[in-house]
Amino acid sequence: MGEKRVLCVGLVCLDIISVVERYPAEDSDTRCLSQRWQRGGNASNTCTVLALLGAPCAFMGSLAPGHAADFVREDFQRYEVDLAHVVPRPARALPTSMVISNSTTGTRTILHAASNLPDVTAADFEQVNLSQYKWIHWEGRNASEQVKMIQRVEAYNRTCPPSDRVTTSVEVEKTRPEIYQLFGYGDVVFVSKDVAKARGFYSAAEAVKGLRRYLKPGATLVCAWAEEGADAMGPDGVLVHSDAFSPEVVVDTLGAGDTFNAAVILALSRGRPLAEAITYGCQVAGRKCGVHGYDGIV
Ligand SMILES: Nc1ncnc2c1ncn2[C@@H]1O[C@H](COP(=O)(O)OP(=O)(O)OP(=O)(O)O)[C@@H](O)[C@H]1O
Ligand SMILES: *[C@@H]1O[C@H](CO)[C@@H](O)[C@H](O)[C@H]1NC(C)=O
Ligand SMILES: *[C@@H]1O[C@H](CO)[C@@H](O)[C@H](O)[C@H]1NC(C)=O
Ligand SMILES: *[C@@H]1O[C@H](CO)[C@@H](O)[C@H](O)[C@H]1NC(C)=O
Ligand SMILES: *[C@@H]1O[C@H](CO)[C@@H](O)[C@H](O)[C@H]1NC(C)=O
Ligand SMILES: *[C@@H]1O[C@H](CO)[C@@H](O)[C@H](O)[C@H]1NC(C)=O
Repeated sequence: MGEKRVLCVGLVCLDIISVVERYPAEDSDTRCLSQRWQRGGNASNTCTVLALLGAPCAFMGSLAPGHAADFVREDFQRYEVDLAHVVPRPARALPTSMVISNSTTGTRTILHAASNLPDVTAADFEQVNLSQYKWIHWEGRNASEQVKMIQRVEAYNRTCPPSDRVTTSVEVEKTRPEIYQLFGYGDVVFVSKDVAKARGFYSAAEAVKGLRRYLKPGATLVCAWAEEGADAMGPDGVLVHSDAFSPEVVVDTLGAGDTFNAAVILALSRGRPLAEAITYGCQVAGRKCGVHGYDGIV
């Protein structure tokens, strides 16, 4: 049997990306430098990067029918992301985001259309054969359902020898209090700059120190902070930091956070120390900021 896989649970959507020289004025008519369709969604992007870095991985999320969904499915297949746990949702629509990407500064402005697509449930997750995975990552969404999924992994871990156990991680990215319960689950918790700020912290180091008390014993907290790199703290209580690795020119930061998460998960899953894992995360995320999309990151 080959290397066990990483499973990412969360959203897939379509991003329609218009690259512009500068952000357009309201009610103006502007020619874009380029325009492309790109598979998006945080868990979906994390799968793309894991695959590019050579880690076998699978995606679990809801998928609606239609042309956009066909595009998304084919793109997953192009990167050899396993889709066995995708849950089809007939009569629903794939969420779509319009992204204005400023090629001068690399900023991305996102218009996200809320969708009627229900998230995967703990019942869907019952179908996952846990023995095939070494790591499962959740993009924080339907938190109370996701807690049940993580509890299933905890119960499974108690029944098997250490070498067969599944490590868990969660991403607390959106500033929705319902999602904050996920701090208490997961062996590794990724907290975003947005959530850190919403909780009153103004640096990654402060956020890691201040939010760590909400984790379960033995867990690790990781916080990325764009140009300032990332900080993390494991069960030993030692704060580790990595600076960002800026590319010569920042052209596209869309998905930098997802890239960072994927690289950190891969390094930790291969037994690397925390400081090395976040440094690797910042290196790969920095390379991503220097290219459009993901294909140039390796
Ligand atoms: N402008 C930048 N220059 C260099 N590195 C960057 C830059 N922006 C982000 N990064 C790298 O990406 C990592 C993740 O950053 P962060 O989480 O702030 O991204 P984000 O803007 O939230 O991305 P996403 O589009 O996924 O939301 C940082 O730790 C850093 O290493
Ligand atoms: C896009 O880049 C231009 C040129 O640097 C800058 O003037 C503008 O403010 C940027 N727009 C946004 C939304 O960042
Ligand atoms: C993915 O995460 C980023 C922050 O890391 C966020 O800005 C973006 O909206 C997220 N995308 C989706 C589809 O949730
Ligand atoms: C989240 O899960 C609950 C319980 O299954 C369900 O009632 C709710 O509709 C779900 N929300 C979404 C957005 O899927
Ligand atoms: C789960 O996967 C393992 C390893 O691939 C396999 O041996 C086992 O039969 C599977 N269990 C079920 C219920 O499919
Ligand atoms: C599962 O097992 C791993 C390896 O022993 C352990 O580190 C982790 O805390 C467990 N995770 C959960 C969610 O129970």
